[in-house]
Amino acid sequence: MRDEPLQSRDASSRPPTRPATVVTGASSGIGRALAQVIAREGGPIVLIGRSPEGLSAAAAEVRKAGGEPFVLELDLSLIDAPQKIEDFVAAHGLFCDVLVNSAGYGLRGAAATLPIEDQLGIVDLNIRALTDLTLRLISGMAARRRGGVINLSSVAGALPGPYMALYYASKAFVRSFSLALHQELAPSGVTVTCVAPGPVRTRFLDRAGAGTAGLFRILPELDADDVAEQAWRGFKSGKRLIVPGISAKLTTLAASLIPSAAMLPLVGRLQLKGGDPCPCGSGKKFRKCCGASRFQRRRSAS
Ligand SMILES: NC(=O)c1ccc[n+]([C@@H]2O[C@H](COP(=O)([O-])OP(=O)(O)OC[C@H]3O[C@@H](n4cnc5c(N)ncnc54)[C@H](OP(=O)(O)O)[C@@H]3O)[C@@H](O)[C@H]2O)c1
Repeated sequence: MRDEPLQSRDASSRPPTRPATVVTGASSGIGRALAQVIAREGGPIVLIGRSPEGLSAAAAEVRKAGGEPFVLELDLSLIDAPQKIEDFVAAHGLFCDVLVNSAGYGLRGAAATLPIEDQLGIVDLNIRALTDLTLRLISGMAARRRGGVINLSSVAGALPGPYMALYYASKAFVRSFSLALHQELAPSGVTVTCVAPGPVRTRFLDRAGAGTAGLFRILPELDADDVAEQAWRGFKSGKRLIVPGISAKLTTLAASLIPSAAMLPLVGRLQLKGGDPCPCGSGKKFRKCCGASRFQRRRSAS
């Protein structure tokens, strides 16, 4: 594992020579599974995340699968993180041939009651860091006429998500951005693939508070390894969009057919639980405040 401090390398004296895969969100879940799948083809893989334990476990898996791991412990929500990644890659005599943007998180709850900083963190990580990194690296790919980007969107990117508003909106951005880039870069031989799964068995749902409520609860969970296999296969065959799992495909189709006037209340109902803080900011539970009539109706119906 190469995880020396940057200062120990002189980037200017070592022209980048070897193609590498750069994976964000490599310490856990889908990113970690993708790193393992890609490692089977050999070559350097730069693993990025914050958790040292997750990263060193991922590095061991990559080495075992046949790849050469390089670990970069980094908080991607910091404004200078993409520059640090570029510097790290160059300092190790590498260039980014394939970029996997998997780092991301969501939060379930009413936008009016969730902490603003935590919601803006979704914009910083899921949108800004992904965009900055992609824009920095695609020009080199286009000039070399090879490589590409795998971006993790979600089934949530296909529709607006009341009570998980920032997350759904961030994934809609990733989807739109990735599909447009796919079109722009295809003539230069660079592939941009958007991966939009339904629920996947990782730490994500619990971290988002979506493990017990929401659209993610009613759809069957996929395995991260299966999603990674499908994503890598799809990327290698130049696909623009991969929607793993039949339920995610059906949800995406329904989102395009059902009018917003019907879809939004349905998703809202799935996403807000009676015990959640009321969106009106009263500090009371939703079922005891603005949702009282809905829960009374349910009780009298049963
Ligand atoms: N699981 C699902 O149901 C699902 C469904 C559709 C789409 N997705 C998308 O798939 C992607 C991967 O999610 P997952 O399911 O694999 O979740 P996960 O297991 O929670 O992994 C998230 C990854 O993001 C990294 N990360 C989070 N905040 C970071 C930060 N500030 N700086 C650097 N790294 C950060 C985490 O690393 P550290 O904690 O080490 O920093 C971890 O490696 C996300 O973009 C998610 O939106 C997930």
